Formats: sequence, structure tokens, C-alpha cells
Amino acid sequence: MKALVLAGGTGSRLRPITHTSAKQLVPVANKPVLFYGIEALVAAGITELGIVTGDTAAEIEATVGDGSRFGARVTYLPQERPAGLAHAVLIAREWLGNDDFVMYLGDNFVVGGITELVDAFRAERPDAGIMLTKVGDPSAFGVAELDGSGRVVRLEEKPAEPRSDLALVGVYLFSPAVHEAVRAIRPSGRGELEITDAIQWLLDHGHAVTPTVIDGYWKDTGNVTDMLEVNRSVLEGMEPARLGDVDADSELIGRVRVEAGARVERSRIVGPVVIGSGSVVADSYIGPSTSVDSSCVIIGSELEFSIVLSGSRIEHAGRIEGSLIGRGVRVTGAQRAPRAHRLVLGDHSHVQITS
Ligand code: DAU
Repeated sequence: MKALVLAGGTGSRLRPITHTSAKQLVPVANKPVLFYGIEALVAAGITELGIVTGDTAAEIEATVGDGSRFGARVTYLPQERPAGLAHAVLIAREWLGNDDFVMYLGDNFVVGGITELVDAFRAERPDAGIMLTKVGDPSAFGVAELDGSGRVVRLEEKPAEPRSDLALVGVYLFSPAVHEAVRAIRPSGRGELEITDAIQWLLDHGHAVTPTVIDGYWKDTGNVTDMLEVNRSVLEGMEPARLGDVDADSELIGRVRVEAGARVERSRIVGPVVIGSGSVVADSYIGPSTSVDSSCVIIGSELEFSIVLSGSRIEHAGRIEGSLIGRGVRVTGAQRAPRAHRLVLGDHSHVQITS
């Protein structure tokens, strides 16, 4: 069995931290969301990966490499333009050969992995296996309608009036029957070859499509609260470690991971917290559910339930909570009067000021 991992797209969506970079590389607990997907595939025994790339190909290739660090073998499959998920299957036709495969959307995060789903597919061998989850905003997803006995009767991509609250999660299993389906369908209203339509085609032509409803699911929709929440849940399962330097005047409580090359001085850290390599935390408090990525500097500040991406600097900034701070950001306290807020914010930034 192979895996087709989708990490293409334009990279230009206006999400909080993906103005300039691939959304599949948004970090959760300091690790790109795409890595969790690759690890879940390898854990399910799938090591032959084809990664579909688009505009951000260079960044994806530099970050993932040849796959050996995951115990996988990666082949890159460039897609000229993001013409749809089914289009990605079309361009991968030759690489996929006649193998069964998992199609995994690189910006999706499935809590608990996919091993059970893959095992069930291997045992039952339907032509498609889909994963569904209840969501509050089904019209932002592909939506499945099931009958009374749990069989799929209809699938619709981003319907204005959804017939259920069951969204298609970005993990699909296919037999080679899908190749005929992706060739048969036509572009949707948004001009894309939809995998949802290809699966509907399989249903319409009498192929078996098996649904599995799951609980823990997240994707980068640009919703900061959801992102902080998935970060929190991953941190709760993280291995604590003290690989960097922690001085005698600091206190680490609970599940705290200080990566190699990080330094903690005169600070109190209450886990779950990860401090990335090369970061310095001094005279600060870092509270639960916080990820500080690599090469950050946090001085004389308090930070809780937040994500700070690499290369950012927070100095004498008071208390920061529930925040997502991008790469290379500077947040500094005003040292002298007038104590005004001075802001240099990127497009679509969101700031809540307390005083
Ligand atoms: O995330 C689940 C949803 O993913 C499903 O509920 C929908 O049915 C499915 O169509 C898809 O919807 P999105 O509109 O959210 O997909 P998006 O355009 O964000 O693309 C998903 C991933 O696939 C993302 O990592 C980018 C990549 N991609 C996308 C397209 C359109 C490609 O690699 N090539 C493409 O042509």
C-alpha cells in the first residue's frame, strides 16, 4: 500500500501564519502538522510516500527531505496548479501504479492516528474508505449523508445547505478503482476536480464506500482558538525532557520539554510546555499549554496557553495569554512615558489590548 500526501496548494491563503509559507508546515507543539501525518502513515505500516507539491515545493522538500528520518521513502510529485484533490490523483497515476493507497491531506491532523482505519481497509477491501467527523460548520467541508444503517448515500462538497453535520476528514483509502472515477468527473463550480465527486461516482457505479466516524480531528482553518486547543492536546501527550540548560534558580513543574541548545534562567515553567532549541527564557513565567519554537527569546514576561513561532522575541511584555505569535515577531514593553501601544502589525493581524 502507498500513500499520496497532498502538500500542494498556493500557499497564499490569508490564514494567520500562512501568508508566506505552506499551511502544511504550521507547527503543532513545535512540529509541522505534516509530520504528524507522515508519522501516522509510517505507524500504519505505509512507508512508500508520494508527496504532491505546488508553489511551496522548495519549502516542503527542504523540511521533509527524502523521508529517511521518518523511516519512509518519499517521491515528490509536482502539481502545476492546485486543480483539485482528484487532479492530484490524476497526476500521480503512474507513481501509484495499481496499488491501493491512502490519500492524506497534509494540513489535516487526526488524533489517535489512522492505523485502525488502514487495518480495516486491508481486511475488507472496499473501493473507498472515508473518515467522517461531526463539525459545527459543515458547509466548509465535504459533507456525507448516511442512511439509517450507516451506509453512505450521498456526498457533497461544501454544500450551502448541508444535509448532515458529518464532514469528510482529509484521509481517504482507495483501491485502483478510483482512477476511473477521477477520469470520469468534471470540474466543480469552484473549478476543481473534487475527490468528493469521484467518491460519489464510485457510489453511483455500485462500488463499496465504507465510512468510519472519528472524534479527534483538526485542520488549519485559520481559527486560532482551535489551533491553541490542538497544541494543548498534543503537549499533554508529549515526552518531557531536559535536554537544554536549566539554571538552579529556575523551576520546571509537570510535563516540560526543554530542547537541546535552549536555556532557561531564573524562570518558572509550568507544563505542559515545550521550549525549542536555541531559545532563551529568562526572568519569565511560562504557563501550561504553551509552545515556544526554536531561536526565540523570552525575557521578563509571562506567557500562557500560547504558541510562539521561531525567531520571535518577547521582552518585558507583561502577561500574554491565548495568543499565536508568528515567526520573527518582536513584542516589547514600553520602557518610558508615554506608555502608548506602538504597533507594527502584518495584514489580517488581530490584537486585543487590555488597558
Ligand atoms: O480537510 C478536509 C476537507 O479537505 C474535506 O472535507 C473536503 O471535502 C476536501 O475537498 C478538502 O477541502 P479543502 O477545500 O479544505 O481542501 P484544500 O484546498 O485546503 O486542500 C487540502 C490539502 O490538499 C491542502 O494540504 C492543499 C492540498 N492540495 C489542494 C489542492 C486543491 C493539493 O496538494 N493540490 C490541490 O490541487
